[in-house]
Amino acid sequence: MKKNCLEIVRQKCESCNGCALAKSRNNVVFSDGNPSTAKIVLIGEAPGEMEDECGRPFVGRAGQLLNEFLADAGISRDEDLYIINTVKCRPPENRVPTDEEKSACHKFLVAQIDIIKPQAIILCGATALKSFVELDKKQTISKVRGKWMNIMVDGVEYKAMTIFHPSYLLRNHSMEEGSPRRLMQQDLSEIKNTIFPDKIIDENRELVML
Ligand code: URA
Repeated sequence: MKKNCLEIVRQKCESCNGCALAKSRNNVVFSDGNPSTAKIVLIGEAPGEMEDECGRPFVGRAGQLLNEFLADAGISRDEDLYIINTVKCRPPENRVPTDEEKSACHKFLVAQIDIIKPQAIILCGATALKSFVELDKKQTISKVRGKWMNIMVDGVEYKAMTIFHPSYLLRNHSMEEGSPRRLMQQDLSEIKNTIFPDKIIDENRELVML
């Protein structure tokens, strides 16, 4: 059922010319993950070069790093997540999508969330956060990340947490206490413990109990 509804949205998205990004795209990057089992929607910023080439979100270096952090936390990318971006087409030179581009694409994002009805939404970085929440100047990602909040999507309230974008972590290698990578581990672990309290993972990342 969810798959059928998403297929209709995908078809509309694939023929969309709602903003200038449509002209330069090779592929619409619609989603990844299993809509039937996903309890969490993870929202990134925008497709990069590799995503545009293969039509799947988070497959480049940032995506590989994200996969590592997810696996460490015991969150399955393929089963637990439905992964999307604020825009479905690659912005040239990987620039941040403009407000117009995000607005043109927002209906697809909302439709995907409406269909999945996740237990939680992970907002990956500032662009995803700002698609749902107006930030005042004092609210930086460092202050907002790691805290559960409620966001409204099409009149429905969802539990959401902002985490660092993995591209930021590619530039920050430290694993010291309080470093961005350590905070990312903490945030994903909090998400896993809240949404999958019965899932126990051993040190080899194997699922030992559900
Ligand atoms: N790849 C994506 O699909 N989204 C991002 O935000 C970054 C890389």
